[in-house]
Amino acid sequence: MKTARTKTVEESIRDTEAPEHRLRKRLSALDLTVFGVGVIVGTGIFVLTGRVARDNAGPAVALSFVVAAIVCGLAALCYAEFASTVPVAGSAYTFAYATLGEFPAWVIGWDLVLELALGAAVVSVGWSGYFASLMSTLGIGLPPALAGEDAVINIPAMVIVLILTAILVAGIKVSARTNLALVILKVAVVLLVIVAGLFFVRAANYTPFIPPARATPEVSGLGAPLIQVLFGVTPTAYGVAGIFSAAAIVFFAYIGFDIVATAAEETRNPRRDMPIGIIGSLVVCTTLYVAVSLVVVGMVPYSRLSSAAPLADAFREVGQPWLATVISIGAIAGLTTVVLIMMLGQSRVLFVMSRDNLLPKALATVHPTYGTPARVTIIIGTVTALLAGFIPLSALAELVNIGTLFAFVVVSIAVIVLRRTRPDLPRAFRTPLMPLVPILAVLASIYLMANLPVETWLRFLIWMAIGIVVYFAYGRGHSRIARRHLGAQDAPRG
Ligand code: ALA
Repeated sequence: MKTARTKTVEESIRDTEAPEHRLRKRLSALDLTVFGVGVIVGTGIFVLTGRVARDNAGPAVALSFVVAAIVCGLAALCYAEFASTVPVAGSAYTFAYATLGEFPAWVIGWDLVLELALGAAVVSVGWSGYFASLMSTLGIGLPPALAGEDAVINIPAMVIVLILTAILVAGIKVSARTNLALVILKVAVVLLVIVAGLFFVRAANYTPFIPPARATPEVSGLGAPLIQVLFGVTPTAYGVAGIFSAAAIVFFAYIGFDIVATAAEETRNPRRDMPIGIIGSLVVCTTLYVAVSLVVVGMVPYSRLSSAAPLADAFREVGQPWLATVISIGAIAGLTTVVLIMMLGQSRVLFVMSRDNLLPKALATVHPTYGTPARVTIIIGTVTALLAGFIPLSALAELVNIGTLFAFVVVSIAVIVLRRTRPDLPRAFRTPLMPLVPILAVLASIYLMANLPVETWLRFLIWMAIGIVVYFAYGRGHSRIARRHLGAQDAPRG
C-alpha cells in the first residue's frame, strides 16, 4: 500500500464547497490583522516578560524578543505563501496534507492541539490570576483554592472558557466584533505602559544589560535547556546563552500569527488579505514587545520583577497603583481575546480533520442557523474548561511553544515541497529568497526548540507518540482520501 497519501490543493478547495461543510466567507484584511493582534498580545507580554527577565535573561530580555521575532518572521513568510495558495481552514494541517501526505498531516493536526487547546487553557489560567488580582484591588478577595495560578478548582478560568465557547458557537462575525473592542482596549493599555513607564525608567537598571552567566535552581536538572545538556556544559541562566533560552520561552508571546491562517476559508479575498493579516500583525506586536520589555526592565531591577503580573506590579513598585489597576483591566481584556481565538483556531483544525474523516465525521457539521462548526466548538470548549479548571497549567507554556515550533518546521519544509510539486499553482504571495528563507526558518525553529527544557521535550515526545497510536487505530482506516482514491481506482472519474 502507498504510504504517502496526499490530498491535492484542488481537492482541499473542493471539499470546502460542499454546502453542509461550507463556512461563511466574511473576513477582511483588517479583521484578520485584528484577529492576529488579538491572539498574539497576551500572556507572553503581560506575564512571561517578568518571569523570564528575572530567571533567564535580565534586561537583555528585550533582545530575546528580537530573536523570537526573527524566528517568527521567517516562518511567517512561509505561512503567508501557503495561506495565500491554499485558502482552506486548518492551517499547518491542511498545508501538510497537500504536500507531505496524510500521516505528516495527522501528526501536525495532533501537534496543533498543544498549541491551540492547551494554549487556550494556559492563557485562561493566567486570565484567572489577573482577575483575582483585580478583584482583590477592589476589596473582593477570592479564595486561592478557587482562582489564580495555584487553584485546586479554577472557577474563573472555567467560566471564561465557557462564555467564550458560547460566543464562538453564535458566529464568527460576532466573535470578530467582540474581539475588536477588546483588542483596542488591550493595545491602548500596552501603549500606556510604554509611555507612562518611560517617566520611571532609571538608567542604573540597565547595567549590566546582559548579566553574567551563572547556575541557578530554575535552570538545572530537567529544567535545563536541552542544548546545554547536549553539549555537556553546566546549565546556566543569564549571559548570552540566557538570551536564547529566554527567547524560546518568550516565543509564546508571538504565537498567534499562524492562527490567522486557520481563518483562510472564512476570508473574502484570501490571496491578498492573508499575507497582510499575518505579516502585519507580527510587525505590530514585535514593535510593542521590544518597547514594553525595555521600559519594564528600566523601571524595576530585573531581580525584583513579579512573575504573576509584572507590568502592573512595576507601576505599583514606582508608587502608581491606579495605573496598575488600569493595566490589570487591559490584561484581562487582552487574555480574553487570546483564549477566544485559540479556541476558534482549534475548532477549525479539528473541523477539517473530521471533514477528512481522520476523526469522526459527525464533528464536521456546520450549524444550520449560525454557520459555525458548533458541535466541535462545544467539545473543545468543554475539554479546555476542564483542563483549565483542574490542572495547574502555567508551567506548560513551554509545551505550547515546542508544539508550535514543530508546526513551523513542517510548514517551512512543505513550502519548498509545494514549489517543486506544484509550480503551476497561482501564488498571490511568494516567500522571498527561495529556498533560503524556509531553510533558515526550519533551522531557527529547531534551534529555539533545542533551547527549551529537557522536561518539555519529554512531554512533547509522549504526546506525539499517543497521536501516532490514535492514527493507526482510527484515522488510517477511515480516511476520506484513502476511500476516494480507492473509489477512483474502481471507477475512474473525469
Ligand atoms: N501569544 C499569545 C500570548 O502571549 C499566546 O498569550
